[in-house]
Amino acid sequence: MTTLLSASRLTKQFTGLLAVNEVDVEVSAGSVHGIIGPNGAGKTTLFNLISGLLPLTSGTLTLDGRDVTSAPPYQRTRLGVARTFQNIRMFSDMTVVENVMTGMHTRLKSSGVASLLRLPGFRREERAARDKAMELLAFVSLADKARVRSGDLSYGDQRRLEIARALAGDPRLLLLDEPAAGMNPTETRDLGTLLRQVAKRDITLLLVEHNMGFVMDLCDRITVLNFGRKIAEGGPREVRDNPAVIEAYLGTKVAARLAKAHGA
Ligand SMILES: Nc1ncnc2c1ncn2[C@@H]1O[C@H](COP(=O)(O)OP(=O)(O)OP(=O)(O)O)[C@@H](O)[C@H]1O
Ligand SMILES: [Mg+2]
Repeated sequence: MTTLLSASRLTKQFTGLLAVNEVDVEVSAGSVHGIIGPNGAGKTTLFNLISGLLPLTSGTLTLDGRDVTSAPPYQRTRLGVARTFQNIRMFSDMTVVENVMTGMHTRLKSSGVASLLRLPGFRREERAARDKAMELLAFVSLADKARVRSGDLSYGDQRRLEIARALAGDPRLLLLDEPAAGMNPTETRDLGTLLRQVAKRDITLLLVEHNMGFVMDLCDRITVLNFGRKIAEGGPREVRDNPAVIEAYLGTKVAARLAKAHGA
């Protein structure tokens, strides 16, 4: 299997705290790769380093063999990295379809004067963008809510809207930070089905999630972080049975969920 993303000795130091500490991760092209770990383990920080939202303290990062260690976020977006956020980020006052279109604006060719004057070329592009956004909304089962104000959507719908917006940039690697957070069991199951369909579109998935059943079911490979360090890695079973992982989770609510997944 080819490696799409390779992180080597990735480190992020905040004042007095190593949030990510010499972490190595290899994400295979076409895989669904999970990142798990207790609260504060460094999962979101790792995502921020991969998407370029935060600069690294040290380490290297390559995407498809290309060094992107110092590449700014927009360049990584251009190279095919997209993400969703743990705390949903969207334009609440825009409609659902408009939010999806913001995900593709870096790709629109005509801009500036053409858009101000609404020249035919711009209008054509805008129509094509809207059509594509509608297709994506159908894909995430939100087509009937296209004209709803985004802030009025339920939590689960907002999470799926974020996925549609991330897909609008045609990513090769999609980072999902707790996509099932706040979802009820039915929504979570549907999300699993949706993400499997995303994976079938040749999009590699890297996801952070606390819902153990969800992670174990969906992921080909899982990396476990604790206090900024990688403490385990492997297939779902291997990770689930790893004593270091169980110990890291002991005393947390997730330990109970892990035990439940173990018995399942
Ligand atoms: N900008 C920041 N400045 C200082 N410390 C930070 C910053 N961002 C995160 N941290 C700290 O870094 C550590 C890792 O945080 P991070 O958000 O990456 O954890 P996480 O694994 O995503 O946790 P959770 O499961 O709660 O989302 C925590 O101790 C957190 O308080
Ligand atoms: Mg987090």
